[in-house]
Amino acid sequence: MPRFVDALSKEKKEELSRIAKAIVAPGKGILAADESTATIGKRFANIGLENNEDNRRKYRQLLFTSGKDLHQYISGVIMFHESFYQKSDCGKPLPVLLKEQGIIPGIKVDTGVVNLAGTDNEVTTQGLDGLAERCAQYKKDGADFAKWRCVLKITSHTPSLLAMIENANVLARYASICQQAGIVPIVEPEVLPDGDHDLETAQRVTEQVLAFVYKALADHHIYLEGTLLKPNMVTAGQSCPTKYTPQQVAHATVLALRRTVPAAVPGVTFLSGGQSEVDATVHLNAINCESLHRPWALTFSYGRALQASVINAWKGKDDHITAGQQELLKRAKANSLASLGKYQGEEGGSAASQSLFVKDHAY
Ligand code: 13P
Repeated sequence: MPRFVDALSKEKKEELSRIAKAIVAPGKGILAADESTATIGKRFANIGLENNEDNRRKYRQLLFTSGKDLHQYISGVIMFHESFYQKSDCGKPLPVLLKEQGIIPGIKVDTGVVNLAGTDNEVTTQGLDGLAERCAQYKKDGADFAKWRCVLKITSHTPSLLAMIENANVLARYASICQQAGIVPIVEPEVLPDGDHDLETAQRVTEQVLAFVYKALADHHIYLEGTLLKPNMVTAGQSCPTKYTPQQVAHATVLALRRTVPAAVPGVTFLSGGQSEVDATVHLNAINCESLHRPWALTFSYGRALQASVINAWKGKDDHITAGQQELLKRAKANSLASLGKYQGEEGGSAASQSLFVKDHAY
């Protein structure tokens, strides 16, 4: 056996790299619409809407039919298994609806977090069983990328070495399985914003976590050009008494990434992590205005920060669908501009500056 065995054919590498680049094309980002049934239920509860399968279908249809401009800002959508197999009112599978607009369908493939026994409430993420078969099927059914979220927590003693090793390894194993199936893995190690830690602590923990992740990806022979990273921005803890400027957040974030993320990675697609819609946009813009050299595209893969105003405007009512869609286009356009460092601010909307923080957030 040769010393180095190629994990992927030349063709597969080219395909993965092409998909990853398309997702982070200039001015584009991802709509994360992959809330689990329980999580979307919490969003619906805020507007008094019943969490049933058809309401979930109608809501995702609303998002994906927001209009002809959507594809200018949104390159890909992450879906939950249920919606991936749902159809629009006219009988079209939702992934087909996206593809017809030039938007790449993606799929959440993890099955959620479980406790790591013997730790201070730390967690790992499950979903490796049968993943190769599921990925092969998703690929056949139109998914070109996937997401797997791991969660790390900051307290005086965490993240522990165990949590960093375990989560890095499971992300790498997931990435390897996805790439074999021709699916671009979005690698998501989220350092939660819960706590009162300062910006420097958030930066140091993020650097440590990312260093473990990229060591594991190297160990697992991951083709970095065919991956994307979905990290937290470096922000102080949610209850930190010190407030930091967008420029400070941007500088800490870019420093952490430069120290840990190889230049071969085509793009970084941040999660919004409970920031308000406006903060998520302002921070992304500041990141893209940073003077330090940035070898990767830096864009968005937002869930809450793209959807909060949409849900509030829609309220589950058919005659408010267009109002909801307009909110999505507004946020998508603002974040598209921010990903280019060209966002100039906007009039505050109803939900746009409210914090979207959820304690110990599960997706
Ligand atoms: P938020 O933008 O709401 O943090 O979610 C993005 C996501 O996909 C988390 O896994």
